[in-house]
Amino acid sequence: MGSGIAQVAATAGHDVLIYDNNPQALKRTSEKLQKILNRLVEKGRIDDPTAKAIFGRIYFVEHMSSFRECGLIIEAIIEDLNIKKAVFEQLEDLVPNDCILATNTSSLSVASIASACERSERVIGIHFFNPAPLMKLVEIIPAIQTSDTVLAEAKKMIDSWGKLTVVTKDTPGFIVNRVARPFYGEALRILEEGMADVPTIDWAMTEIAGFRMGPFTLMDYIGNDINYKVTETVFKSFYYDPRYKPAFTQKRLSEAGYLGRKSGRGYYDYAEGAVNPKPKKDKALGQNIVDRIVVMLINEAADALYLNIASSDDIDLAMTKGVNYPKGLLKWADEIGIKNCVARLDELHSEYLEPRYRCSPQLRRMARDGETFFLVKVEI
Ligand SMILES: NC(=O)c1ccc[n+]([C@@H]2O[C@H](COP(=O)([O-])OP(=O)(O)OC[C@H]3O[C@@H](n4cnc5c(N)ncnc54)[C@H](O)[C@@H]3O)[C@@H](O)[C@H]2O)c1
Repeated sequence: MGSGIAQVAATAGHDVLIYDNNPQALKRTSEKLQKILNRLVEKGRIDDPTAKAIFGRIYFVEHMSSFRECGLIIEAIIEDLNIKKAVFEQLEDLVPNDCILATNTSSLSVASIASACERSERVIGIHFFNPAPLMKLVEIIPAIQTSDTVLAEAKKMIDSWGKLTVVTKDTPGFIVNRVARPFYGEALRILEEGMADVPTIDWAMTEIAGFRMGPFTLMDYIGNDINYKVTETVFKSFYYDPRYKPAFTQKRLSEAGYLGRKSGRGYYDYAEGAVNPKPKKDKALGQNIVDRIVVMLINEAADALYLNIASSDDIDLAMTKGVNYPKGLLKWADEIGIKNCVARLDELHSEYLEPRYRCSPQLRRMARDGETFFLVKVEI
């Protein structure tokens, strides 16, 4: 992630210093960046002098003491709280007093990382998506210690790099990794119940709902080990809220080494010439699958709004630009009708009697009061 972020910053005209405590990794990063820039030239996206200028603005440094004139540091090291805290503690003594210290963490508490610094008000989360140069969305996460000035400056800076920023509370999964959980979790539940098989669920979610990839294709793409780990981390971080409970199916796949594309096998077989099962293109079944997964996603998005994790605009922007959902989930709720969403969730809840299907108070109140997320009601 670090090299992608460096490329974005250097492309925006900044001098960038990259430090990695593994010199081999630093060398690999330099080669990788050079290769990526060459490819952009070959494809005609940038000209050769521009590529050279971008690469020329990136310096590979051997010590963090080289950061003494930096205005912004974005940490993208291993996802380990104690290691990150140790690095932030060290950084504070090496950089100017007004330097913003940011973390690219996907799952750790920004408040906890910031607590390693004496001037914790200058610490903030700046969460890029992979690959950073291609993904438009960046989540900005002020910790409870972060000052308003640092939040405003960080947001302004990342906006000026051509990114779309959304501000989110410092809670597990921020916006995207929280709201997206049912896309995987409910698909796995449908599979485990035997309501439909893998290709049928993927077919319904792409052909009927309009997602770019079905949940299982996407899990195979991300890697079942990684996707499982994120779900497990979110589940634990929410004090074992059953809504985020991981699925045994994915755990077993991960344990068996069926990690997805990268291992040649996951939910699908990626071996050359492999024949994978075909979807059962039953429209009614497909619609049922879509209704169930989409309403669970809507419930999660509504709950994020209810708990003030982010604004309705930012929640929809995050899901359309961060993970390319075909529509913002709150906009989708308006289209389906809030009352219909509540009815569908209540139906699931009364059938399963499981808290994972409990309707968000946000949706229930809005249904009661006849409100919508975005549509303006016209009185005639
Ligand atoms: N990979 C993703 O899709 C993704 C997306 C968003 C955010 N993130 C976050 O970005 C961070 C990095 O993830 P990644 O996938 O690039 O990891 P990675 O393992 O590919 O890279 C981490 C690098 O940090 C270096 N490192 C480890 N400890 C260090 C230290 N003490 N000082 C300096 N360098 C050190 C390692 O040598 C390695 O090169 C994590 O916090 C992760 O959660 C990752």
